Amino acid sequence: MPVPIIIDCDPGHDDAIALMLAAGDPAVELLAITTVAGNQTVEKTTLNARRICTVAGITGVPIAAGCARPLVQPLLVADDVHGTSGMDGPQFPEPTVDAVPEHAVDLMHRILTEHPEPVTLVPTAPLTNIALLLTRYPDCAARIREIVLMGGSTKGGNRTPAAEFNVYVDPEAADVVFRSGVPVTMCGLNVTHQALATPGVLARLESLDTELARICVQLMTYFAATYRRLWGFASPPLHDPVAVARVIDPAIVQCVDASVAVELRGQYTRGATVVDMHQYLDRPVNARVALALDSERFWDRVITAIDVLGSRRA
Ligand code: RIB
Ligand code: CA
Repeated sequence: MPVPIIIDCDPGHDDAIALMLAAGDPAVELLAITTVAGNQTVEKTTLNARRICTVAGITGVPIAAGCARPLVQPLLVADDVHGTSGMDGPQFPEPTVDAVPEHAVDLMHRILTEHPEPVTLVPTAPLTNIALLLTRYPDCAARIREIVLMGGSTKGGNRTPAAEFNVYVDPEAADVVFRSGVPVTMCGLNVTHQALATPGVLARLESLDTELARICVQLMTYFAATYRRLWGFASPPLHDPVAVARVIDPAIVQCVDASVAVELRGQYTRGATVVDMHQYLDRPVNARVALALDSERFWDRVITAIDVLGSRRA
């Protein structure tokens, strides 16, 4: 039986691939897409979610816009990474998929309440919507199977030396999630940097010879130029699909149990995820932390999902 999931995202080049993986792989059932401010404003991330659903033929999956800013601090977007649109590179047609009028938090609550079994939340963005869901509707925690998020890191950040972008944008929200008591799996930069879209991956996508595959190559090509310019990467890490892959087949993403604390006060370390794998701090284990990726099986699932979606539209 496919695992029911909701993806909370900020498309975002890698969010786009995460959505396609979720929609194209039979191991998960994508119940809804919710958007939040992060890579870009929530207006832009919502438009991008609509664009992805249009080009990938993802229909019957409600898209709901969420929070326009973090819980406490002002919004910081990543236009240096994802561009002005939040998904620069490809030219997208006018979207034919609309968003629903419901707020993301209310849609998540309604689905969690109505769905016959607990639902897995897969946040691939700042955790503002998720924190608000848990605060506004505390009863829904029991209806969440687990939260498998892309965010944080066991070793250093990508927005500050200590903090990864999704957690850095809204550290208070991340703190709420990691303290919530809901089972959390953290897929941080230490594991997502193993998901590199190499020239070999791009060649496999090109060989699919579908319009959707060509759009994915354009997304990854733009992302590659960004990662080369900003960080000197030869190939870009596709962060967000790793969280989806963990739900699809847990064996693809090896994890260990650990206590994770979100630093809120450090002058230089605010937004850091302090991962204690050896109980130095005598804090309760509150998360599974991803350490290793089976990148061959990961890319097989990603490319197959894109092929399934692209072939339907061919
Ligand atoms: O740090 C990587 C994360 O920040 C990814 O989710 C990417 O899409 C951006 O949101
Ligand atoms: Ca993202």
